[in-house]
Amino acid sequence: MAVADLSFQLFPGQSLGLVGESGSGKSLTALSAIQLLPTAAQASGEIIWKGEQELSGLDENSLRELRARHIGMIFQEPLSSLNPLMRCGEQTAEPLRIHKGLDKKDAEAAAKQWFSKVGLRDPDRIYRSFPHQLSGGQRQRVMIAMALCVEPELLIADEPTTALDVTVQKGILELIQELQKELGIAVLFISHDLGVIREITDRVIVMWKGKVMEEGAVASVLEAPQHPYSKGLVACRPSIAGSRRRLPTVPDFLEKTPEEIESFLNELDRTSASDVSDREVGLDNAPIYLEANNLHIRYPKEKNWFGRVTTYHQAVDDVSITLRRGACLGVVGESGSGKTTLGKGLVRLVPLQSGEVVYQGHAISSMPERDFRSYRPKIQMVFQDPFSSLNPKMRIGELLSEPLRIHAPHLTKEERYERVIAVLERVNLDASVLERFPKAFSGGQRQRIGIARALLFEPEVLICDESVSALDVSVQAQVLNLLKDLQEEYQFAMLFISHDLGVIRFIADEILVMQEGRVVEHGPAEQIFNAPQQAYTQQLLAAVL
Ligand SMILES: Nc1ncnc2c1ncn2[C@@H]1O[C@H](COP(=O)(O)OP(=O)(O)OP(=O)(O)O)[C@@H](O)[C@H]1O
Ligand SMILES: [Mg+2]
Repeated sequence: MAVADLSFQLFPGQSLGLVGESGSGKSLTALSAIQLLPTAAQASGEIIWKGEQELSGLDENSLRELRARHIGMIFQEPLSSLNPLMRCGEQTAEPLRIHKGLDKKDAEAAAKQWFSKVGLRDPDRIYRSFPHQLSGGQRQRVMIAMALCVEPELLIADEPTTALDVTVQKGILELIQELQKELGIAVLFISHDLGVIREITDRVIVMWKGKVMEEGAVASVLEAPQHPYSKGLVACRPSIAGSRRRLPTVPDFLEKTPEEIESFLNELDRTSASDVSDREVGLDNAPIYLEANNLHIRYPKEKNWFGRVTTYHQAVDDVSITLRRGACLGVVGESGSGKTTLGKGLVRLVPLQSGEVVYQGHAISSMPERDFRSYRPKIQMVFQDPFSSLNPKMRIGELLSEPLRIHAPHLTKEERYERVIAVLERVNLDASVLERFPKAFSGGQRQRIGIARALLFEPEVLICDESVSALDVSVQAQVLNLLKDLQEEYQFAMLFISHDLGVIRFIADEILVMQEGRVVEHGPAEQIFNAPQQAYTQQLLAAVL
């Protein structure tokens, strides 16, 4: 049973937070609240809407009506909830026409207004764009605008801000709070981010393995967690204050006395301090694996009547980076600032307008595709959800051996199998996953498989784009520890893109801060966090919850 014996009431204007790790039943709870669960997973118990209506008794049509008109939903994965074939503007304007009775022109104006409200800078461009033409955080905000624009009575938000940088996230949370006051919206807020939960909810329920561990006013639960699981949750979140060499994970807390937990954390801090200072010596002189000089990357923005592009959107504007053996460069910056585009430019997933990328002395950006093929395996990119780009009908075994078949044709079937098993072991998985399909895995497992896939060829450069953002804190801590261990073992150069400053603080040696395609600040991690020079960096650090 995924969720056992959960009861709560939610009144107009109130907000309730659900925290816990993935698989703890948080999302199931939300889905059953709106009767979206597949029947096989149907729950017992009742869900009562406005004190009168028992939802499980409603037929499909009345339910759909209720959901569309009165319940707004924001899911974590914007790509799967936005229609890929419809422009973002049309999909937002449609419910406004149907449910608010606006005519075409008013609906368009209202949709654009909502885009501005969620902090999207160029509402006209966003209105015309298809989802794949937007950055992760922009898509997430389109979805938030869609959920809010019909002014629902109940808002169910499932990890709504995982792709957003702190300043934008702050704006969104404030917007939800305003609407809550103004319209009396009730909010069910699901998140593993305790900072966000603290900011937005009054009450919180901590769930673990489908059971309620702790429940109460948000301040008391988060300031003084009672249950070891809640304590673990609070502790595994990487903080911008300290630089621990390893992050604690939830299992470190279970079945331990408060004294044991205390001494475990003290030991962690003590060993970290010496490790960190050892590491900093020497990285500056490590060999350069990849260098990018004066990269410019732009996307077509408007076309004329003949299909010729007339204006461009400059996504990356004169960016240079150096990636060294065994070192990690962290990239932070607001949503839409060009982080993903930079990563893609390095591995030739988007064309450069100008500039060059040099890998071990070879100018890989200008060579023909067929020459680049032999370098490709050595420069790997791990995406936020590596599976959205993979074939869901292929088993994990095939997904992992396929690239080997292409890039290492000399290997026999047995040798391929051995190589796959070896990398799975490195990410703490075993042969039992080979026969299964991607959808059978949790977010953390998928991310491990994605990392395993990247490790198949012992890459020298690993680019991680928001690779841990969608994971809950405990799993995130495990994957971050794993990446650090792997880097130590293989000594690859890493480019780590994240909007989470705590994560960057933990993993990066050096940091690049981006805004509107340009580098605003660049320096050693210590310096960026302790003495940020630029106003924008200071603003980012100040907005951390
Ligand atoms: N395929 C595309 N076509 C047109 N514009 C695009 C395309 N992909 C991205 N853009 C635009 O380029 C800019 C940079 O996008 P990018 O994905 O690099 O941002 P990001 O820093 O990774 O943001 P996020 O933190 O939200 O993921 C954004 O304004 C985005 O709308
Ligand atoms: Mg991105």
